[in-house]
Amino acid sequence: MPITASLSSSAPAKVNADVLAVPVFAGRVLGPGGKAVDAAAGGTLDAFMTEAGFEGKAEETLAVPAGKLNAKAVLLVGVGDKKAVSVNGLRRAAAAVVRRSPKAKTIATTLLDTVPPGGDRIGAAQAVAEGAALGAYKFLRYKKGDAPALEKLTLLGKKDDKIAQALDRGVAVAGAVALARDLVNEPAGAMTPSQLAEEARRAAEDGGLDIEVLDEVEIANQGLGGLLGVSLGSDQPPRLVKLTYTPKGKVAGTVALVGKGITFDSGGLSLKTADGMETMKTDMSGAAAVIGAMSVLRAAGVQTKVIAFVPTTENMPGGRAIKPGDVLKIRNGKTVEVLNTDAEGRLILADGLSLAAEEKPDAVIDLATLTGACVVALGMKIAGLMGNDDPWIGQVRDAAERAGESVWHLPLPQEYRKDLDSEIADLKNITGGRGGGALTAGLFLSEFTGDIPWVHLDIAGPARASGDDGYIAKGGTGFGVRTLVEVLSTFEKPKAGAGKK
Ligand code: BES
Ligand code: MN
Ligand code: ZN
Repeated sequence: MPITASLSSSAPAKVNADVLAVPVFAGRVLGPGGKAVDAAAGGTLDAFMTEAGFEGKAEETLAVPAGKLNAKAVLLVGVGDKKAVSVNGLRRAAAAVVRRSPKAKTIATTLLDTVPPGGDRIGAAQAVAEGAALGAYKFLRYKKGDAPALEKLTLLGKKDDKIAQALDRGVAVAGAVALARDLVNEPAGAMTPSQLAEEARRAAEDGGLDIEVLDEVEIANQGLGGLLGVSLGSDQPPRLVKLTYTPKGKVAGTVALVGKGITFDSGGLSLKTADGMETMKTDMSGAAAVIGAMSVLRAAGVQTKVIAFVPTTENMPGGRAIKPGDVLKIRNGKTVEVLNTDAEGRLILADGLSLAAEEKPDAVIDLATLTGACVVALGMKIAGLMGNDDPWIGQVRDAAERAGESVWHLPLPQEYRKDLDSEIADLKNITGGRGGGALTAGLFLSEFTGDIPWVHLDIAGPARASGDDGYIAKGGTGFGVRTLVEVLSTFEKPKAGAGKK
């Protein structure tokens, strides 16, 4: 259910909501609105907090009597150290409030007034809206269960058009994240490549985008040998989706996106273990992030032209499947010896990146659940970031930081490049067990980007959550959507060759 978020200058004591959420700083220091609540509770708040052992630590919550307030219930929410209140901390606090109030249709809160003077109130407003909306996310398509009832979030604070806009933006971005989560959480049996293309079509209609979809015949005719090769072991036909967002008015530049859309990764003939493929419907998370982000660019008023490519197929071991040792020819003419059919993501991305480079954009980003090695290196919450241009890497990294998505810059060491040399083709698709698998996958991709500034995000870890955590729900996370919307909203052309590596 989409929520609305708005600003109101009502006093906390007067506000009419199912839940009034009031922040408390670490050490039980009542935050904005705290005095009014304490007065209504007859000055008993400190005793309540002490008795419950509530300290005001980040995301702690405590329900207290509403006393003479107009709101039906009051929830204290910890926001941690007063001097260290962060935008992402508020995103998490808002989610904590919603999770603790599953029946509340209307929630009012003074959270925004915890932002220290001179702090980023606009970023915080967007984050609170995102946190509340995403905290209410559940995937209930195949299971009866109560989705949080939240319909309306009211932030108490001075009237301010910029803040109101930021709230709208937060709700819209959360909707894009929820779309990506839905696409990922849908079982692979339903979210086939052709269905994913249909979902992209719907997103294009709703989001004012142009769309082209290539079928298996056109994929072959266009020389997309990586995508076609991977698709051969499956009865489901592959698709290549191209989405284009053209802003009205002044354009800051052109960015191309590529998202890995393996709707199920069995490994192909280099078959995964049963455990290894349990979550492999998640292997189209890069595609989902790209479609999610594209869907909201118009609503977010982005002034960058964006061209997105989503190569999508299953990776299956059917009778026509590619075999270890087969050679595929990628769109840009390079040949690849496929020694492990489970290293399939880089094969379809190679075609996607080649198409992206042909558009001569100012910069490229790809997102992919590419390597288990990246999960080993950085764990489940941090994406690996690699690239060929320092200023562009910097822009994407800063945008991720502002969006509250963790990324870590990893190298593309040229000294490992020879490990990808093949005896019979331009490249092979694996290196043999010498470690550094996230980096050599990145090096492989760099063969298809031409000399365009490019960033690769390996989201194999953070694309999926193993449990609820703040505004993240178990399952698909929609990781990458917020970073993409942020970087496209603030895009500046990387200066030609300035930081080339
Ligand atoms: N989709 C997987 C990567 C993956 C693993 C994503 C775990 C999320 C969680 C990818 O296609 C893959 O199988 N990669 C192989 C590469 C190897 C064969 C070089 C891997 O990481 O084991
Ligand atoms: Mn694989
Ligand atoms: Zn894969």
